[in-house]
Amino acid sequence: MRKPIIAANWKLNKGPSSTEDFLRSFLSEVNKQSFGVDIVIAPSFVSLSKASELLSSETKVQLAAQNVSEHDSGAYTGEVSVMMLKELFLSYVIIGHSERRALYGETDQVINAKIKKAREANFRPIFCIGETLEERESGKLEDVLRTQITQGLLDIPEKDLTETVVAYEPVWAIGTGVTATSEQAQEAHAFVRSVLKDLYGEAASQKVRIQYGGSVKPANAKELLSQPDIDGALVGGASLEPSSFFEIIRNSAE
Ligand code: 13P
Repeated sequence: MRKPIIAANWKLNKGPSSTEDFLRSFLSEVNKQSFGVDIVIAPSFVSLSKASELLSSETKVQLAAQNVSEHDSGAYTGEVSVMMLKELFLSYVIIGHSERRALYGETDQVINAKIKKAREANFRPIFCIGETLEERESGKLEDVLRTQITQGLLDIPEKDLTETVVAYEPVWAIGTGVTATSEQAQEAHAFVRSVLKDLYGEAASQKVRIQYGGSVKPANAKELLSQPDIDGALVGGASLEPSSFFEIIRNSAE
């Protein structure tokens, strides 16, 4: 049985003070009951220390970084290493988000190096994959996903795969308000799991949690999460307000 994981990706939003405001309000709701899902928040790098301070005594909410360098140290201006993140109360790192692929030129090879680096430091990668609309419409969905998975996980052993969360985020559904239908999402998730099965075998593929991301909202979370291969959500816009992120968690847990 895979435990669902609902994660907030705040992208370029919320400095330390608005992170604190969010968490104080969010925790006061979340701590009233149990949901049986993992809850993760990924603030910007500058807000991670504040969030780490506020969450280190919490058991219900875990912290993620939105990115990490594939290097340990040196002349890499603007980068953050796994050892720096190790000083914080942090469990997950988002790797290979489509915005990093499209806007910052991250290749499957860089993403693979980042996953390895994150695992060396014992972080759980949230490994993002997904196709553009053009790729989907030209019948390349499966090829694109298979390549992203195979290259991104190259030489990653099974013990690290099972600590990795895969986030399927169709690029055309991110920030557009257009959500994949639950059938489209389920179909893609089942395909992702079949590729994992080809690479690692049935038992390992059944252990991996696959999140859906792309315009997840309180109104569609429950239906998406009720699909057999959808094990969680990676939420952008609708995670910025404590009440709407909380509602997504509540609806997913029902
Ligand atoms: P939206 O929920 O804003 O569509 O963003 C999804 C996403 O990219 C999460 O990583």
